[in-house]
Amino acid sequence: MKSAPSLFLVTLLLGGAALADDDDDDVTYRKDIRPLWEQKCMACHGEGSPYLAEFDENKDKYEKLARGPRMDTYANLVTFVGWPDSGALMRRLDDGSNTKDGEPGNMYQHLGADERERQKNLALFKAWVGEKGWVLKRFDELSRKELGRMRVAE
Ligand code: HEC
Repeated sequence: MKSAPSLFLVTLLLGGAALADDDDDDVTYRKDIRPLWEQKCMACHGEGSPYLAEFDENKDKYEKLARGPRMDTYANLVTFVGWPDSGALMRRLDDGSNTKDGEPGNMYQHLGADERERQKNLALFKAWVGEKGWVLKRFDELSRKELGRMRVAE
């Protein structure tokens, strides 16, 4: 007689599926990042903000207005992940685990009101970019391989 799959095995498989649900691949801009961005980033990086070139030309002015460069669409936001402003999102949001000086990036504070919330939201950004794609290097230091590990599903 063929033995039925053990309860243990079934639990393991279901457990595996549940884990896979939390996998990097499932985090998307539209479903996860956009709502978080609206809550935590939009006030300073929304449509009232200049695009990066204009921002860079008048940095002092915009910093006084507490405006960062505009990142209000998927296409805009990913320019701060892969290219041309490679790694900017990671450098600014990292909690210090991967930064050169061990200090959190200066946007980390905006991820939440307390450490628990910041960590939770950082994990979401990390899952979006991909744990292996969470590289803080600038474009000229990045290898193709590292670039290829950045996920950023739309
Ligand atoms: C209170 C306003 C404010 C909030 C909220 C804020 N930022 Fe910023 N951000 C700025 C300003 C101002 C700058 C430019 C000054 C600087 O470089 O620190 C900036 C710079 C950045 C940069 C660097 C851009 C570049 O020049 O390469 C990134 C990336 C970034 N922010 C991401 C985020 C993300 C993601 C969030 C939400 C979790 C966020 N910021 C929330 C004000 C804000």
